[in-house]
Amino acid sequence: MANIVIVGMQWGDEGKGKIVDLLTEYADVVVRFQGGNNAGHTVVVGEEKIILHLVPSGALYPAKRCLIGNGVVVDPQVLLKEIEELQQRGHFLKDEQLLLSEDAHVIMPYHRRVDVAREKLKGEKKIGTTGRGIGPSYEDKIGREGIRVGDLLDPETFWEKLHTNLALKNHCLETCLHDQGVKMEEIFQEYSGYAERLGKYVSNTSVFIDREMRKGKHILFEGAQGTHLDVDHGTYPFVTSSNTVAGGACTGAGVGPTKISEVIGVSKAYTTRVGAGPFPTELKNEIGEGIRQRGGEFGATTGRPRRTGWLDIPVLRDAIRLSGITGIALTKMDVLSEFPTIQVCTAYRYQGQVLEEVPSALKALEECEPVYKELPGWGADLSGAKKIEDLPGPAQDYIRRVEELTETEVMLVSVGQRREETILRRNPFQKGPGLPKKA
Ligand code: IMP
Repeated sequence: MANIVIVGMQWGDEGKGKIVDLLTEYADVVVRFQGGNNAGHTVVVGEEKIILHLVPSGALYPAKRCLIGNGVVVDPQVLLKEIEELQQRGHFLKDEQLLLSEDAHVIMPYHRRVDVAREKLKGEKKIGTTGRGIGPSYEDKIGREGIRVGDLLDPETFWEKLHTNLALKNHCLETCLHDQGVKMEEIFQEYSGYAERLGKYVSNTSVFIDREMRKGKHILFEGAQGTHLDVDHGTYPFVTSSNTVAGGACTGAGVGPTKISEVIGVSKAYTTRVGAGPFPTELKNEIGEGIRQRGGEFGATTGRPRRTGWLDIPVLRDAIRLSGITGIALTKMDVLSEFPTIQVCTAYRYQGQVLEEVPSALKALEECEPVYKELPGWGADLSGAKKIEDLPGPAQDYIRRVEELTETEVMLVSVGQRREETILRRNPFQKGPGLPKKA
């Protein structure tokens, strides 16, 4: 039995979708444990490219169970549309493949409205949210006012909760945010319709996971966003509203920490960020534009151009500490192939001091200057590489340098979008090295 958590080490968009999809082959159950449809996980299989927002990236394997845990905030309309689209493409054909936690909170229309209206009101000080209602939905959860998936299934409870909520929400929308209120009857009808269609997926996912673990099954916990968007440990307030670190898998799926075998951190070979907030290694020049174009760095959810920069080791060190990461999956190495030299930020300079960790205070981080180590580029196509030794010398050195600086093994290297464009040095679900394939 191996229970593996996969988390992003940077500010999201590290390529977790591909890694989860790849490792799902060896897992039995894949679980989303936080976030919502702010995530956009891209999976490429053959000529097909699929972007998943809510359904776990294991969806493309018909025999695997996909779970949406209690820690996720669920927009039912988006979930139903995603299931429908997957089914139209020949995936996800059996209802029992998906389990939705009865305790997951529901994103309501007023959450989206508040999210967008509040950002508008903040003007230049906005967070740059995805506008999907994620923050307001988590606020209701913590404020004990949220509506859970289980509530939707009971019309009386749903009506009561909605009624209590709307008195407050409409006051807030109309008076504070200068927006229009929402209508009780319309929402009740609309969401009751969703409940009818989603009911067959709803269950106690924590109990399900526990039973599977007792049977010795392998569980893969799929994180969304990245460490530095974590509401406690990220670049607050420019963060999302959930715990993106590995500990979130325990609370967001209902499993104890002793059940987790390993944590894999996913990092790009460089850095990107969407939305506002400090980004010490950002490149606002033609190199940054080159990375954006070559790496297709445009948001999978919102289409926004991503900010780009060199690899930031303090950011990775923090992620390793915060999640107890035991192995790194280094993605998009191929994107750096065109550069004659590559910079790696090994530390920050701040008020005459050298910092090896990311400072907590936003102001301090904004003032940090990256300390760079220049490394030679490799100027060669990496796409055919099947093992580390197939990579050009400077690319191998780059990986070795990342391992030295983070004191953590790079267990997987991704050199292209496709499943087969991956070097798996160690499989966390199987003892020993290599890429053993199941028949
Ligand atoms: P929210 O999660 O929509 O509230 O957005 C808060 C911040 O997190 C914004 O800067 C978003 O751009 C960022 N964010 C949320 N989800 C993702 C993601 O999946 N990838 C990258 N950034 C994200």
